[in-house]
Amino acid sequence: MAEIIDGRAIARQMDVKTRADVEALVAEGHPAPGLTVILVGEDPASEVYVRRKIKACENVGIRSTEHRLPAETSQDDLLALIDRLNRDDDVHGILCQVPLPGHIDARLVLRSISPDKDVDGFHPVNVGRLSTGTGGIVPCTPLGVMELLRSVIPDLTGKSAVVIGKSNIVGKPVANLLLDAEATVTVTHINTHGLPEICRQSDIIVAAAGAPELVRGHWVKDGAVIIDVGITRMPGEHGKTRLVGDVKFDEVQHARAVTPVPGGVGPMTIACLLANTVQAARNLFE
Ligand code: GUN
Repeated sequence: MAEIIDGRAIARQMDVKTRADVEALVAEGHPAPGLTVILVGEDPASEVYVRRKIKACENVGIRSTEHRLPAETSQDDLLALIDRLNRDDDVHGILCQVPLPGHIDARLVLRSISPDKDVDGFHPVNVGRLSTGTGGIVPCTPLGVMELLRSVIPDLTGKSAVVIGKSNIVGKPVANLLLDAEATVTVTHINTHGLPEICRQSDIIVAAAGAPELVRGHWVKDGAVIIDVGITRMPGEHGKTRLVGDVKFDEVQHARAVTPVPGGVGPMTIACLLANTVQAARNLFE
């Protein structure tokens, strides 16, 4: 049977370390790291995510501030708020929840956040730093993927990895992180030919296509490690819905290890956001 990689447990371990890092900063005479979350409008899913992020901050001793703005907020007013937060020394991390209302250019807004406070790691400066292996803040989900992988394979040198999906928020940054870790990386996408064969040759499969149960058992070689980033809501039994990953979980029990959905990558994302906030604060203090 494949080992189930317990994202919830690994996220809790990360939180313990983050709390200790916060306490160490405070012991050095610094203020506790501060995260500001901006939510524009009333998207119900975003409200749930923001609430979770704020609660997670409390849990590790990060100060959090929330700016809730009405859906009709102008782009200029949002940019003015971010400008103010960029210059506020008590704010170490800024996160503007997306999606934003249609009249606001999300790319422009995300680029207006200071790269040093961009705890999402979405700013082109941080993307550039990651792709050149020169530090910067790494996006939370890719960071979580690497933590989960390293819990099974501490040294990725020379491993063959396939990253399924080339999105800017998961596929490309994961590929860069794997390259930095000295893995040999293939990135595939919707127009890739021979995906099953590429997977069969890989020691590591990171599935981030958003295609439910795409990866089948016969695509996976014995002893491979699988990180499933996909999460799609599907109709389940008795009129309920169920969450499905990009991997047909029941068919991959000959793998060495696999993440479940839910309970794999998902819980890691907030833990990595907290770690990024502490890193941003430490960098700003230095
Ligand atoms: N909306 C859904 N996930 C995220 C995230 O990780 N960061 C931001 N800013 N918005 C999101």
